[in-house]
Amino acid sequence: MKPYVIVFGNEKGGTGKSTIAMHIAIYLLQEGFKVGTIDVDARQGTLTRYVERRKNAGEDVKTPEHVAVFRSEDRDADKAKSADAESFKNATQRLSDCDFIIVDTPGNDTYLSQFAHSYADTLVTPLNDSFVDLDVLVKIGDNMKILGPSIYAETVWNQRKERAKRGEKPIDWIVVRNRLTTLYTKNRKDVNVVLEALAKRIGFRLGSGFCERVVFKELFLSGLTLLDLEKSGVQMNISHISARQELRDLISFMKLPKLP
Ligand SMILES: Nc1ncnc2c1ncn2[C@@H]1O[C@H](COP(=O)(O)OP(=O)(O)O)[C@@H](O)[C@H]1O
Ligand SMILES: [Mg+2]
Repeated sequence: MKPYVIVFGNEKGGTGKSTIAMHIAIYLLQEGFKVGTIDVDARQGTLTRYVERRKNAGEDVKTPEHVAVFRSEDRDADKAKSADAESFKNATQRLSDCDFIIVDTPGNDTYLSQFAHSYADTLVTPLNDSFVDLDVLVKIGDNMKILGPSIYAETVWNQRKERAKRGEKPIDWIVVRNRLTTLYTKNRKDVNVVLEALAKRIGFRLGSGFCERVVFKELFLSGLTLLDLEKSGVQMNISHISARQELRDLISFMKLPKLP
């Protein structure tokens, strides 16, 4: 069986790709799966450092097998592209005995990132709850009128075509809002209206998302995730429990193979 590939992508930084990618990886590990992670954003290296820190977090803390993929620095654009494709394929080869491969991508458009997108069985796009973030998905006119898909939606569309050419099944694209405020504001309602309309139009499923919680910022340094807190003897508070539930909700919304 080929590993099932989950890519985290959005042509925008700071939306929660690396944080959520790490949490999904650890969830699947704890379910007993063999999990590999690939950092295509190796220059920034958030996921790479998260995994590195985790290795020092204690003996019984499970860590995914990790590969960092750097972009080619070849000045010849064609050579750089084929080197990037080769590096990514090599990384997936190294992890070919995994059940799942989690791929974290950068918040900007690179060939390496595009190529990685074409490998996604599931693509997860975290989005902050603002029209600034929505702008990478959709062009919006006056009165919130949808004018058409924007840069990132076009990237996904192109990579869907690449997959189709290779005869692979379509990407299941999931958009999740992240860092939601608990206040129900007009902005939140407006963003939701646009996202629901857009979901049908450009073909993604809209997940329920994550609230803004300081625990996500605190966890990185220790290499731990929300799913390790209880075992590490941390007193779970209501915010931790809610965040963990949001994560479980996303997992079940993803309808991954081999999971109930
Ligand atoms: N739900 C959340 N609540 C609070 N902070 C968050 C949440 N999700 C992510 N963050 C923080 O936001 C910042 C960007 O997250 P990161 O995962 O690095 O985004 P990306 O990989 O998309 O650039 C980090 O400081 C991270 O700790
Ligand atoms: Mg990142």
